[in-house]
Amino acid sequence: MADLQITASLPDEHEALVALYPEAFPEEDLTALVRALLAHGDVMSLTARLAGQVVGHALLSLCGVSGSDHPVALLGPLCVAPQAQHQGVGRQLIETGADRLAEAEIRAILVLGDPEYYGRMGFDAVSPVEAPYPLKPEWAEAWRMRTLQVQGPAAGVLEPPAPWRQAELWR
Ligand SMILES: CC(C)(COP(=O)(O)OP(=O)(O)OC[C@H]1O[C@@H](n2cnc3c(N)ncnc32)[C@H](O)[C@@H]1OP(=O)(O)O)[C@@H](O)C(=O)NCCC(=O)NCCS
Repeated sequence: MADLQITASLPDEHEALVALYPEAFPEEDLTALVRALLAHGDVMSLTARLAGQVVGHALLSLCGVSGSDHPVALLGPLCVAPQAQHQGVGRQLIETGADRLAEAEIRAILVLGDPEYYGRMGFDAVSPVEAPYPLKPEWAEAWRMRTLQVQGPAAGVLEPPAPWRQAELWR
């Protein structure tokens, strides 16, 4: 899309980013998680603007993997304002994040989300990296990985930054 712009988020647009979530996820309150991730040093925040308006947001948290020296990233939340959905904004946020993380030699991106959507975005259902909390059996397909390097991550358990270490976020 010609006037779609994706950049690192600016501090003065954090409130506009937080305000996207109740619109895109009316049944979930992600405000506290998003604020904690925006304030965390190991989290990449990307803003999508269409014609200058903030319309999308992606957060990518750097995580360890138990027993490995090679970090991975956890994508989430990802959100696009309802009026801007189905125009490729989500895809472009994911591709920009993947490019930047690949350049930084991060081996993979993990996600817990809609299997249909993330399957289309190159996230595979088989991952050697386990979620940090037990997932419901019916969520097995929702835990996905996109490999960024020829050498994928080692097997182990994901070690996310503090804002993600709450069991209820994974239930
Ligand atoms: C899910 C979300 C991030 C996608 O962003 P988006 O900008 O609308 O997505 P894109 O336009 O980049 O979509 C790319 C592709 O996925 C498809 N798609 C979009 N939303 C989809 C969904 N919820 N489920 C399945 N496929 C979807 C599009 O049709 C498109 O396919 P195509 O490229 O083959 O035409 C956005 O719709 C959103 O914030 N939704 C609200 C929350 C939500 O439903 N989250 C679920 C994922 S955790």
